[in-house]
Amino acid sequence: MTKEEKWFKSWFNSPYYHILYQHRDYAEAEQFMKNLVDFLQPNPNSKILDLACGKGRHSVFLNKMGLNVTGMDLSEESILHAKQFENTTLHFKVHDMQLPIQENFQYIFNLFTSFGYFDSDKEHLNTLQHIYNGLEKNGIFVLDFFNIVKTKNQLVANEIKILNGIEFKIKRFIKDGYVYKTIAFEDKGNKYSFQEKVRGFDLEDLKKMFSKANFNLKHIFGNFDLDPYNPDTSDRLILIASK
Ligand SMILES: C[S@@+](CC[C@H](N)C(=O)[O-])C[C@H]1O[C@@H](n2cnc3c(N)ncnc32)[C@H](O)[C@@H]1O
Repeated sequence: MTKEEKWFKSWFNSPYYHILYQHRDYAEAEQFMKNLVDFLQPNPNSKILDLACGKGRHSVFLNKMGLNVTGMDLSEESILHAKQFENTTLHFKVHDMQLPIQENFQYIFNLFTSFGYFDSDKEHLNTLQHIYNGLEKNGIFVLDFFNIVKTKNQLVANEIKILNGIEFKIKRFIKDGYVYKTIAFEDKGNKYSFQEKVRGFDLEDLKKMFSKANFNLKHIFGNFDLDPYNPDTSDRLILIASK
């Protein structure tokens, strides 16, 4: 990784990221989308943006449910993979969420902790403002973020995972308001080291930022079944806001 390149650009674009996270739960993601669609009741013609869609697991499923979906992600590799699923109501494109969104959507989803990666809160607010501007009037934004309170209390400092014959040595720590995860391994005689760095926004931080970006926060949930948020026990922190 070069000094100038941000961790999230190289790591999410790397094949090793997809090896480490290969057990990502598709069934759980699909159930979440079912619950969300039941709750939001989108009009079938409404346009949905899955921002930071990765390889498109949520986008593809939402489209199967009859919705008009665009998935955008910074990772060229992930978008290349997702493009195989494209059809007349499902599109994918490379896009950096730090830049303005060029179309308008009724719904924008940011799922599975795809926020909090930047070095400053100004950059995070800037991204929220782009999301706000990318929504039509009364449009809805859904942010599915991790729950920092539970993560802090249950942090696993060291872990080893062996996947595809590669031994991933994982370390986690919290510093200066960020949750760090370092991932070190060897493959085919080469040594690699990556670091994930996610801002540990709590509910109050997000409420303040949403308000600065002019969003009206409507609902707060604590898991993919959309149960109420409890800081000590909830797995997720899911915010639903309107423009
Ligand atoms: C934790 S993954 C989640 C992917 C997907 N939402 C899912 O649940 O499978 C985070 C995603 O954010 C994307 N990402 C990181 N920085 C981004 C940026 N600045 N603009 C757009 N996407 C970005 C990464 O490439 C990665 O695909």
